Amino acid sequence: MKHKSIHHTFQDPASRREFLVASSATLAGAALAAQGGGATGGETPPKLALHGGAKTIQQSAKLGPRWGEPERQYLEAVLGQDTLFYWKGPQTTGFIESFRQLTPLKYVMTCSSGTAALHIAVAAAGIGPGDEVITSPITDIGTVIGVIFQQGVPVFADLGAGTYNLEPAEVERRITPRTKAIIAVHLCGNPCDLTALKALAEKHGLILIEDAAQAWGAKHRGKPVGTFGHIACWSLQNSKHITCGDGGVVASNDERFGPFLQRFGDKGYDRVTGGLCELFATNYRMTEEQAAIARAQLGRLEGIVAKRARLGSLLTEHLQGVPGVLPHQVHPEDRCGYWFYFMRLRLDAFSCDRSTFVKALAAEGVEASAGYISVPLHRNPVFQKHAFFAGRWPIKELGLTAMDYTKWETPEAESILKTGVKITVQEGMSEEHVLGVAKGIRKVARYFAN
Ligand SMILES: Cc1ncc(COP(=O)(O)O)c(C=O)c1O
Repeated sequence: MKHKSIHHTFQDPASRREFLVASSATLAGAALAAQGGGATGGETPPKLALHGGAKTIQQSAKLGPRWGEPERQYLEAVLGQDTLFYWKGPQTTGFIESFRQLTPLKYVMTCSSGTAALHIAVAAAGIGPGDEVITSPITDIGTVIGVIFQQGVPVFADLGAGTYNLEPAEVERRITPRTKAIIAVHLCGNPCDLTALKALAEKHGLILIEDAAQAWGAKHRGKPVGTFGHIACWSLQNSKHITCGDGGVVASNDERFGPFLQRFGDKGYDRVTGGLCELFATNYRMTEEQAAIARAQLGRLEGIVAKRARLGSLLTEHLQGVPGVLPHQVHPEDRCGYWFYFMRLRLDAFSCDRSTFVKALAAEGVEASAGYISVPLHRNPVFQKHAFFAGRWPIKELGLTAMDYTKWETPEAESILKTGVKITVQEGMSEEHVLGVAKGIRKVARYFAN
């Protein structure tokens, strides 16, 4: 399904009507306030906390302890083991068993980071010099590090205006004879349109890799993300839903790729057969100590994600119809894990800029910040200068790619980063707190409404 652009979204009759009603109410209220009235013609917007008014949220939400007894128990078990090595290590084995219960995938390799998981995935997918991999320009750079190290070419496709995920039609537009794979990033834990991307991958014979680094516990049409693509990757870095400080998981059900995941994470060694190295890889192994913590964290996952999904939907519900505000767009049959909540502002609906809007939110007690990454990935100097390896990019020098990131355009992604506001949603928050967040946003939006 093709999503409406943000411009259309904002011009739908209902929101436009509300926008006009709210604007005229503001004007009428201001006029009446000047006369000292206000009984019939609308109300003066309440004074912002930024200007000394009452704060919407009095108490900040506290995130409870993220680790405790279950982690301690597994760590104690580690100290009684005679090995801290992953291969056949009891913690790694236990982690993989629990992981498979949540995400039924046959081949699972634990590794040192989400970046490592993605590098293993593209190596197992056979990405080599000049191969193009289509992905999102709004993501952590770890999504494409592996592609570049394999001498492949990240090709950035534009995004859905409200989902911030790959727009299937834009992906299709970027397919060339050199395209070998798609990396679908489930940004903020919001599942990509995996049904469409899978169909596209099948139609063009491409490998679909899911980057679920931010999408632990997310579901597309009722099924766990990670089970749609040929290979899928997760991050266990400290900021993620569950963590062991740093870590990653790469998994697959596909017999063409799955058997290679272990070897590409472990210097090419085949620990199953003990045979000679037949492929070249680096060391991305996870230790037993990390696996012990990650294993315990898996037990917390469903509670964390179910709560965030509920709070995120609640926030969306209470932001409907706020003129100039586009809530985070999640498909009604999907489950988003809200690594964070990302709404957009239609800046011409407000008399302030985004930075003032965010400052006003913070003063109301809403945890908010402007944007996410500051620019789409390819706007970073290392891409603009094509300077990946000691200031050079061998595949470009050798004529294996004509990619020129200085000329690459992804306008919706640029616009998302200029108009997005990141709102914290986390499992320690009560529903009441999130209703306060919505109230704070409505208050600020109303105050600054043009
Ligand atoms: C979407 C995405 N992909 C990949 C990564 C890389 O993960 P890590 O930091 O564990 O290497 C991250 C980390 O933030 C991410 O958010």
